[in-house]
Amino acid sequence: MEEKTSEHYIFISGATGGIGKAFARACIREGDLFLTGRSEEKLLRLKEELCAQFPHRKVDFFACDLTDERSRADMFSYIESRGYLFSRLCNVAGADIQKAFYKYTQEKIVFQCRVNVEATLSITHFVLHHRAPQLEIVTISSISAVYPMPYFAEYSATKAALTSFFSSLRLEMKGQGVRVSVIEPGGVYTRPDVCKDIEGQGLWGKLSAKTPEYIACKSLCAVRKNKRLVHPGFWNKVIATVPRILPLGVRMRFIARRWSRQEKDAF
Ligand SMILES: NC(=O)c1ccc[n+]([C@@H]2O[C@H](COP(=O)([O-])OP(=O)(O)OC[C@H]3O[C@@H](n4cnc5c(N)ncnc54)[C@H](OP(=O)(O)O)[C@@H]3O)[C@@H](O)[C@H]2O)c1
Repeated sequence: MEEKTSEHYIFISGATGGIGKAFARACIREGDLFLTGRSEEKLLRLKEELCAQFPHRKVDFFACDLTDERSRADMFSYIESRGYLFSRLCNVAGADIQKAFYKYTQEKIVFQCRVNVEATLSITHFVLHHRAPQLEIVTISSISAVYPMPYFAEYSATKAALTSFFSSLRLEMKGQGVRVSVIEPGGVYTRPDVCKDIEGQGLWGKLSAKTPEYIACKSLCAVRKNKRLVHPGFWNKVIATVPRILPLGVRMRFIARRWSRQEKDAF
């Protein structure tokens, strides 16, 4: 890929995770980066890796717990103190809790909503007010947004909220130099527990699963082409469309049978 020089930064949330790192490694070819995640150590390691490969690029970061309004405000003040403007926002940070809703604690309910929805909207609002003349916003939702998902109910609802929100924002920002794309990936080989879940889903899981690099590449391609919504990969397009011929109740019973066998937590 051809490297461009830039004066503006690319903001990546969730940069320390599997998909976020893939975004960082792809985006560094196009511009300077501003990264965030909770772990200062992971952010520093990623910065060192990127700067070693691309010494002419600037990489800055701020460790931030996105569930904490004060921590977000500190990050925003830091950015303002440096005068950064953004030409791209990659909303990648997210938490995925999978279990029956009655087994949640109050803390977990709030945590997942805050990371997936509140923080994403808050960062998006901030970046819109600190944007370069042209801005691309790409948000990682999930295939879970397509249908209500018993045993993944809150996650699926938060991701559906993101797809809905960014579809509206796209129209609100039309003609103002802002492109907005939402990506709904299926399984992505990231954390060991996620890889194990994908393997546990048999042939279907393996067919539809993708690498983080593939997701980052398709997402960046989507926002460059100004696509509203993308399901990366052939089998994810099939999953997102073909089952619609069945009544919703049938689809949900199928999903419930599948997801009730797995549990995972997030902190
Ligand atoms: N993997 C999949 O199969 C899959 C499929 C569809 C959609 N997605 C979505 O893709 C995104 C990335 O997933 P992934 O698999 O790369 O997950 P991951 O490896 O667990 O990474 C999650 C990222 O979110 C950050 N994060 C979580 N809670 C945070 C908080 N309170 N404050 C700040 N940052 C926080 C983490 O930062 P720290 O590590 O620094 O805490 C990390 O950078 C998520 O939105 C997920 O819902 C994933």
